Amino acid sequence: MRQPVAHGFTAVDQQPRPSEFVQVLDTLNADPFYTAYKARLRELLRPRPGARFLDVGAGTGAAALTMAQESGSTVAAVDFSTTMAGQAHARGLPYVTVADAHHLPFRDTSFDGAWADRVLQHVTEPEQVLAEMLRVIRPGGRIALADPDYDTQVLDIADQQLARRVLRFRADVQLRNGTLAHQHAGLLNRLGVLDVTTEARTLVVRDHRAADNCLGLRTWADAAAEHGHLTRADAEQFTAQFDEAVHDGRFTYALTFFLTAGTIAPNSRT
Ligand SMILES: C[S@@+](CC[C@H](N)C(=O)[O-])C[C@H]1O[C@@H](n2cnc3c(N)ncnc32)[C@H](O)[C@@H]1O
Repeated sequence: MRQPVAHGFTAVDQQPRPSEFVQVLDTLNADPFYTAYKARLRELLRPRPGARFLDVGAGTGAAALTMAQESGSTVAAVDFSTTMAGQAHARGLPYVTVADAHHLPFRDTSFDGAWADRVLQHVTEPEQVLAEMLRVIRPGGRIALADPDYDTQVLDIADQQLARRVLRFRADVQLRNGTLAHQHAGLLNRLGVLDVTTEARTLVVRDHRAADNCLGLRTWADAAAEHGHLTRADAEQFTAQFDEAVHDGRFTYALTFFLTAGTIAPNSRT
């Protein structure tokens, strides 16, 4: 029987070892692809000294700290995981709140900008989270979003049909909103955000250890079998072909991230 699957980042504190999720974020943060797109996401927010920003689903607070140090702005972090909020606080971020992004505990128009980096993919109601972000940003302020879109995945293993089935499990089952990122621009447009821009950046992984350690790609077929979405034989076949692709030097996985930003309409509160 098919069973629902909850990604660890939907409930970090309930995982057997929450600290492993801190390590995953630290490993990803050190990766040049992530470092580069995160720098661009900060640029899109147009920070300046004295401005106030909110990092929604801030994780370890690493990006919020970098933004504050780089720009001289004040950055608050919100995350509903106490493990993550504890990390952000321990790393020196002064304003850290444990809260659900669907109900941000901040007054209307209290920030010059807000961003959510790889968060909307995990929430139950992305449109409500966006509405909350827009509520707390002042008219004329900036919003920025980043997420991978798992509809864009490719993986070179021998059986492309099998690869597609496993990649679809990742896109449609393992993540709540794994294929939403290409719709962020449309969502912001519909919510009245102005000057919406979208940029795409493709992560290309040739070192299987990077995919395996962080994204857990080699384990996706096992997870699919465990939850009744793939037969055990298919999962074993996937793992064997994954290892064969690595051995033959053909292993290639790619996934596109979308960075979407815009400006809150000046008359949005009148
Ligand atoms: C993939 S991590 C990204 C963390 C950080 N933005 C970064 O770029 O490193 C997703 C984060 O969103 C948080 N999160 C997920 N759902 C949330 C919600 N409904 N409200 C607040 N935080 C949430 C998780 O606890 C986790 O820290």
